[in-house]
Amino acid sequence: DDNGLDVDEGANMTPAEITDLISQLTLEEKASLCSGGDSWHLQTVERLGIPGPMVTDGPHGLRKVADGSMAGIYDSVPATCFPTAAGLASTWDPELVHDIGVALGEETRAESVSVLLGPGINMKRSPLCGRNFEYFSEDPVLAGTLATELVRGIQSQGVGTSLKHFAANNQETDRLRVNAEIDERTLREIYLPAFEMVVKQADPWTVMCSYNAINGVYSSQNRWLLTELLHEEWGYKGLVISDWGAVVNRVEGLRAGLDLEMPGDAPRNDARIVEAVRSGDLDEEILDTAVARILSLIARASAAMADPGSYDIEAHHQLARRAAAASVVLLKNDGDVLPLIDPDDVVVIGEFARTPRYQGAGSSKVNPTRVDTALDSLRQTWDDVPFAPGFTLTDHPDPQLADEAVSLSRGKTAVLFLGLPAVAESEGYDRTNTDLPTDQIDLLARVRKVASHTIVVLSNGSSVGTAEWDDQADAIVECWLGGQASGSGVIDVLTGKVNPSGHLAETITRKLSDIPAQLNFPGEFQHVTYGEGRYIGYRGLDATEREVAYPFGHGLSYTTFAYCDLDLLVRPVSDETAQDETVLTVSFTVSNTGDRAGATVPQVYLGFPDATVDRCVRELKAFLRVELDPGESRSITIDLTRRDLSYWDILLHSWTVEPGTLRVEVGISSRDLPLTGEVILDAPTVRHPLRRDSTVAEWMDADEEFAAKVRRATEQTGIDLDSDPTTAAFILAMPAYKMLQMAPIMTPEELDKMLGD
Ligand code: BGC
Repeated sequence: DDNGLDVDEGANMTPAEITDLISQLTLEEKASLCSGGDSWHLQTVERLGIPGPMVTDGPHGLRKVADGSMAGIYDSVPATCFPTAAGLASTWDPELVHDIGVALGEETRAESVSVLLGPGINMKRSPLCGRNFEYFSEDPVLAGTLATELVRGIQSQGVGTSLKHFAANNQETDRLRVNAEIDERTLREIYLPAFEMVVKQADPWTVMCSYNAINGVYSSQNRWLLTELLHEEWGYKGLVISDWGAVVNRVEGLRAGLDLEMPGDAPRNDARIVEAVRSGDLDEEILDTAVARILSLIARASAAMADPGSYDIEAHHQLARRAAAASVVLLKNDGDVLPLIDPDDVVVIGEFARTPRYQGAGSSKVNPTRVDTALDSLRQTWDDVPFAPGFTLTDHPDPQLADEAVSLSRGKTAVLFLGLPAVAESEGYDRTNTDLPTDQIDLLARVRKVASHTIVVLSNGSSVGTAEWDDQADAIVECWLGGQASGSGVIDVLTGKVNPSGHLAETITRKLSDIPAQLNFPGEFQHVTYGEGRYIGYRGLDATEREVAYPFGHGLSYTTFAYCDLDLLVRPVSDETAQDETVLTVSFTVSNTGDRAGATVPQVYLGFPDATVDRCVRELKAFLRVELDPGESRSITIDLTRRDLSYWDILLHSWTVEPGTLRVEVGISSRDLPLTGEVILDAPTVRHPLRRDSTVAEWMDADEEFAAKVRRATEQTGIDLDSDPTTAAFILAMPAYKMLQMAPIMTPEELDKMLGD
C-alpha cells in the first residue's frame, strides 16, 4: 500500500502528500487519530498503513512502561536516569545539557519511542511546589536557555519532545482544576518566555498543555494560548498534546488548538468530534488541521522508527556521572574543609550515603540501568572509610543509630549525607514547609559537638531551608536529585577530582515567609491569584530587600576568580530596530586567580532606574560558563538585544523599550556583582494610543488642540496650571472624559472624534 506513511522511510511528508492522505481518511478515522490508541501510543489506521508511534515520559530518562498500560507506572524498561531538571539547571551549562539531550534521544530512539514527554519548564513560583525537582528555575532566561539545548539534543536523534506544562502549572495542589489568575504582563515576562524561547529556537515536535485553567479558561481549551499565542504569534508548527487527562470539553479543545488527546483510547470524545462536524458545530477544516499536524508528527518519527539503533549504557552512565558532578552546588566551604584530602580523618554519616535519593516520584520516575552510591564510590578509593547510617528514611527517629554516628564522628571530619525522604516531595502534591527532618537536624547538632569538622551533603529536589542549621556546618554541598550517578558524581566533587562549578538556579531564602508569592500559595477554593506579579524568586527578594541564605546564581569553587574591565557599548533604538537586533554589548574580563583549573559562570543582570513603568531591581539577561586554567584570563563579550531590554506593555500589547539609564551588573550571583556600569539608552519615548480615559496630562501631551483648550478653560476660571501645582495635579490626573463633566471644553462626542472613532 503506497499511501501509508511508513513506506517512505525517513522522509518527512510534503504538505501535498499529507493533504492527499487526509482526503483518503473517513471522518471517523480522522476523529480517531485525535486521541491516542492506548495510554502511550497514537492511534493507527491500518487500512492506510498509518502507524501509531509511542510517546513516553520523561524528562530526565525514559520511562517506557513494559506493558503499555497506565498501571505499573514504575515497571519500566531500564534507562539511564540523568539528573532531574533541578540538577541540570544548576550546571548553567548549555553544552552539557545538549549532550544529555543527545543521550536521551539515543535511548528514546533505541527503545522505539518517538516522543519523550519533556522537558518541564514551569517557573519555580514557590519552593513548596512538589514538582520543582522536574523544573529548571525561578528565572525564565536560565530555564529557557537550558531547555532549548535539551530539546535540540534530544531531537537531533530523530525523536521528538513535549514541552510541558503549557502553561502556568506552578503547583500541584488542585493541579487538575485550579484556576490561575495571572495578569498579562506577569504572564508575558515570567511564565511564558521560557516556552517562547524553546518554541522559537528549538521547534519541539509537541507542546503539552497543562491541566490548570489560566484566567478562567482551561489550558486544554484556551484558544488564546494554544492558537493565537503559540501558533499565530510564535509561529509554532508542531502539535499540541493534552496532559494525560487534561481534556475537559473535547470539541471546544479542538477548536482552541488542542490536536491530540492523551491518554487514549477516547471513543466517546472521538464520536463527539464526528457529531460536531456532522451537525455543523465544528468546521471540518479545524479537524483537518489537527490531523495534518498529527500525520506530520508520524512522518517526522518514521525514520527513527525504521532504524532504532542502540546506545552505549556504560558511556551514558559516565555522562550521568559527569552531569551529577556538574549539578553539585558548593554553597559553603569555610576554612576550605573541602576537598577532602586525608582518608584517615573522614567518617561518612547518613543513610543517604548508602541509599541515595536521586530522582523524584511520579510520572518522571525512571528505572535506572544502575545506581552508584556515595559510600561505595568513596570506598573505591579509600577502602575502609567508616560509616554509620545515623537515621532511617522512615518517619521514626532511631536514637541508637544516632548514638553510633555521634561516637564514630569524634575528632573526625564528618561528612553527613542529609536530605528529604521520598515522601516529602512528589508530583501530585505540594510541600507544606522547606525543613529537613528534625532527626537529621538533631543529629547534625550532636555530631557538630564532637567532630573536628562537619560537611553536609544534601539530596533534595526542591530547595530546603539552611538557615536553621547553617552554623552547624563548615561546608554545605547541594546535590539536588542528581540521577543514578549522583553518588559517584558527588564523591568526585568531595575528593577534588572535579572542581565544583554548579550555581543555584533558585534562591534559598532564610524564611519561607520572605517569599512574596507565599501570600497566595497555593490558593483556595480552586483558585490561585498570582498577586506577587513578576516578583518571584530573586526578583521579589531584591524588591523587598530581604536577606537570603544563598542567593540565586551562587556557587563556590575550589579556585578563585576575579572579574574586571567592564565596558558597555550601547546603540540607539529606533522604531525600525528589530527585536533580535543587538542594542547593548557588555564586555569584561574574567580570570582564574587560584591554583586549580575551574569554571566560573558570569551572569549579566539589567536594571532600569529611570523606567516610568514598574521594573524589577535586576533581571538576568545572559550568562555563560567559562573554564579557566590557573592564572588564565579571558575577555568575554555578550550581546543583548532590543527584546532583552524590553518590558511587555499592556496597552501596546508588545515588547517595548523606554529611553533612559540602563544599569548593567555582572557577577557570580544576584547578590555578588563586582562589576556595575550605566549607559543611557537613546530610544523613542513610549506613546500609548489615546483613549477616552487617558488622563488630561496624557491628552495635553499628545494633542496640542486639546492642551490649548484646557489652558484656556483653566485660565478663565482663574487657575494657573504652572503656578498652582496642587490644583494642577488634581486636574491633570483626571481621565479626560471625566474632566469634560466638570469643564465642558468639548462634548464627549467631540472627544471621541479626536480619537478617530
Ligand atoms: C504529568 C505529565 C506526564 C503525563 C504522562 C501527567 O500526570 O503531568 O508530566 O507526562 O502524566 O505520564
